[in-house]
Order: sequence, then C-alpha cells, then structure tokens
Amino acid sequence: MALSRIDQTAVAGKRVFIRADFNVPQEDDGRISDDRRIRLTIPTIESVLQRGGSVILASHLGRPEGNGHEAAFSMAPIAARLRELSPRLVGLRLVGSRCTDAEAAAAARALKAGEVVLLENLRFEAGEKKGDASLAAHLASMADVYCNDAFGASHRRDASMHALPHAFRASGKPAVTGLLLDREIRFLHGVLETPDHPFVAIIGGAKVSDKLAALRNLIGRVDSILVGGAMAYTFLKAQGVEVGRSRVQEDMLAQAREILQLAAGGRTRIELPTDHVCGAELKEGVATQIAVGAIAADQMGLDIGPATAARYSKIVEAARTIVWNGPLGAFEWKPFDAGTATVAAAVVRATKAGATSVAGGGDTAAAVDANGHAAGFSHISTGGGASLEMLEGKSFECLEAIDQHAEPSYS
Ligand code: 3PG
Repeated sequence: MALSRIDQTAVAGKRVFIRADFNVPQEDDGRISDDRRIRLTIPTIESVLQRGGSVILASHLGRPEGNGHEAAFSMAPIAARLRELSPRLVGLRLVGSRCTDAEAAAAARALKAGEVVLLENLRFEAGEKKGDASLAAHLASMADVYCNDAFGASHRRDASMHALPHAFRASGKPAVTGLLLDREIRFLHGVLETPDHPFVAIIGGAKVSDKLAALRNLIGRVDSILVGGAMAYTFLKAQGVEVGRSRVQEDMLAQAREILQLAAGGRTRIELPTDHVCGAELKEGVATQIAVGAIAADQMGLDIGPATAARYSKIVEAARTIVWNGPLGAFEWKPFDAGTATVAAAVVRATKAGATSVAGGGDTAAAVDANGHAAGFSHISTGGGASLEMLEGKSFECLEAIDQHAEPSYS
C-alpha cells in the first residue's frame, strides 16, 4: 500500500481533523488504566502543530448508543490525560457537549495555528455507527485535512472512519494516515506480505472460534503455528487426547479437525502443547500439577507446560518473523503466566538477534508485558479486533478512502 501520510502533507495554516482511537480502558471512577493509545497518537498531533497547523481531535469512547451526550462516556478524562502527557497540549480544550453542536463548530472556526481542540465522543451521534454521510459532511466542513490515526477502529465502517475521508476528498481536501496508523500497517500488513522465513505464528486465547479465520489465513503462509491458551484443548480433544475438565468448545471440534487437516502435509506445521500446568479450578493459589499427555478427569489445563514452553521457545528463537495473537495460558493468575512469559522472553531474544516480532489483539499486549517483555518486541499493536482482522487477511475499507501516493511510502 502507498498511503499518503500526515508528515508528507502541507499543514501550515490548515485545520487538521485527526480521527484517533482514544477508546482506552477505564476504572469504575473513570480513571484511565492504560493510556498507550493516547500516548502513541501524540507524535501525529505534534507533527501538525510543529509545522504551523491546528488540530481538531475526535474519537469514540466505549459504546454509547447514539442518544446524545452521556457523562459516563465523555472524553473529559482523555482531554485531561492529553494535557498531562505533552507540554504542547496543555492548552487543549474539550469543546461542546456533542461534536455536532454550535460550540464545537465555532471552536473549529476560531482555531489558530498551534491550537488543539478535542470533540466530544463521536458515538453520541446516531449517525456515527450507521456510517452516515450527512454527519460526515458536517464534520468535513470543520477542517481542511483529514488524518486517520485510529488503527484500533480501522476494521469499523463508522462515519468518521469511512464516509468522512470520502467527504474530505469529494471537496478536494486531502485524506491521509497518521504516524501510528502508518506504523501499524507497516508492521501488521508488512509481515504478512513480505515475511522473512522461518515465519512463526503464536496463536492463543480462549476460543478456537475467535481465531478460525486467522488460522485459515496463516496456513500456507507461515512455517509454524504454536497453539496455546484454552483453545489448545479443543484441538487436543479433536485429536482424541483426554483433556479432563479443561475448557473445550464442543461445537468447534469439527472445525479444529478441519484446520489440522488443512495444514497436514503442507508448508505449515501446527504445534500443540504436549504437557500442561493443571489445577482443579482457575483460582489464585490452587494446587497445581504438570500433566504430560492426558489430563486427569478432575483437572483442567491452565497453561502450557514447561516442556512445551521450551519446545516453543526453540522454534521462536530460530524464527526471522514472529506474529503473536492471544495469551498461551491464564496469565492473569500466577503461576499460569509462566508459559507466556517463557515464550515472550524467547521472542525478545529472537528480536535482539534480528527477527521482526509483532504482537497484537485483545489481551496479547498485557500478556506479553506481564513480565516486562513488550519493550523487546519490534511492534506491539494498539489494535484488538483490528489486528486480528489484519491477520485474517481482511482488507480495510477505511484505508481505501485514503489518498494514495504515486511513490510507495513504505520500503
Ligand atoms: C477497539 O477497542 O477495539 C476499538 O476502539 C473499536 O471499538 P469497538 O469494538 O467498540 O468498535
């Protein structure tokens, strides 16, 4: 792909509408528990401000249903965090109680070079989830340049993601990517399109059903798929292995068998755990035992065992490209984090030795970082559903609405 990028776009004296993904996890009292998505958007904002532009920031937060302002979903905590994170953003203001109200429109009109405003939650508008063209036309009238930096929402067809760049382009105004989105595409799309081999995928998580499409897309592209997490027990049961009380998706046994058959005899080896850390239940402090092969009837598998972790680590250390989606065990409860931690450490060693490593999706960032390994990966995605859909090989319609460069922007 050769998408135009914000730092290649003239912004002096222009108002840039940055669609960010500030959909961050919050505690019950509204405190932000993980501000990575906010921090990683700041270089895009600063790139505009440094070059004499002004910024209108917009995002969704949570899933309000388009019935107007709801205090619980207000962007106020995001505005406060942005002001804390960058000296350039101390003057940032949250304007209006809806992105479509007169106050927001007046603030956008009055913007001067170097200034930033944040609009209220886009999902306060019924038109946002519907991909409504009139909402898009209204938002497009507020700015001169559209910049999509919302990788986490890029699998959505919401108005601000899809109709909005079209509305900008229809009035002859540029629609470009931000720096965060550019990096995400480069890593996630890039590793799938032009990987160095051996190429290893680590796929975990609770449900086979969530990963079926990704597994299908990876078979034939990668050299090994290392399976972990509760989904491994569905695969093992499909092969006739005793899995005791482990979590199994009974209605996915046929699909699991089909996936194994699809890979059989081809380029891709599917690796399954051969030993397991087990307990009678998933509980802090529960007595654990290692099961090799079959799991006893009163036990459940809660992590890959040490022999499997060592085998997976060896495969990872020989890899040149690694993608990881989904934890390998119930990492939130010690000692069931050990398998994920051991393999994450192997990914860090492989990366140091020159491999490209990319992790993303759901709990994956938290899982690989539970023992501080995330910094040693080449790239940790900000996308949950979006990074999984990239692994599934889906094309993102919102990116088709972005201006293309004659020259490729990626090498
Ligand atoms: C995410 O967190 O995955 C994105 O922000 C998209 O949010 P959504 O699933 O509510 O559309």
